[in-house]
Amino acid sequence: MSSKFELNSFRGPLNAWIFKALSGYMDRIFGKTKSKLFKDHPSTIVEIGAGTGSNMRYYRKGTHLIAIEPNVHMHENLRESAKKFDINLKIKSLIGEAIDLPDNSCEFVVSTLVLCTVGDPEMCITQVKRILKPSGRFVFIEHVKAKEHTLFSLIQNILHKPWHWFFEGCHTNRDTTSLIKRSGFRSVSIENYNQYSPFLPIVPQIRGYAIK
Ligand SMILES: C[S@@+](CC[C@H](N)C(=O)[O-])C[C@H]1O[C@@H](n2cnc3c(N)ncnc32)[C@H](O)[C@@H]1O
Repeated sequence: MSSKFELNSFRGPLNAWIFKALSGYMDRIFGKTKSKLFKDHPSTIVEIGAGTGSNMRYYRKGTHLIAIEPNVHMHENLRESAKKFDINLKIKSLIGEAIDLPDNSCEFVVSTLVLCTVGDPEMCITQVKRILKPSGRFVFIEHVKAKEHTLFSLIQNILHKPWHWFFEGCHTNRDTTSLIKRSGFRSVSIENYNQYSPFLPIVPQIRGYAIK
């Protein structure tokens, strides 16, 4: 699998615009889950693929956020969100497969709708585990591969190619559940669920956490 991020001069800014425009809708469909998963977060959070900052509204004011975001077109939106939600933001223009933070240095890492897109998700999860302190928590919401021979599996397979192209490498049918389960965390808690929306290829989803 590739762990490069190629920024496209058309789709890069377009995706930044789309994710900013969708932020309110994402709040409606994922808001409750995010509030629950991020509850009691520590004062510093590392977020992989922070996008336009759609998760900041769930972080406490004054939180230190290290945002790993390779699409530079998202950065201005990240800064705007940080201002709006009173977050101390540090942006790192890096990919999740090559995080430059020290081993055992953070307590809480967040990924929402990102492991579908990273070039090498195994490497990304390995990096997350490396930077987490013992007992640190990796919290995630991801859309995942549907059960074989179901309507959603058919939709995912049919739409995979255009979706992958348009959303800069997003896989509609990645088995992220297995990747997380076999990544060597001390304990993993994953709930499968179906958050329906007009974005049919991103049903079903998983939500949960993994403890180092
Ligand atoms: C579907 S968006 C999700 C954005 C945000 N997490 C949210 O929930 O709204 C995927 C994000 O992952 C970022 N991304 C893509 N490849 C990445 C990689 N290899 N490492 C880290 N982030 C990546 C994209 O630039 C984009 O911001």
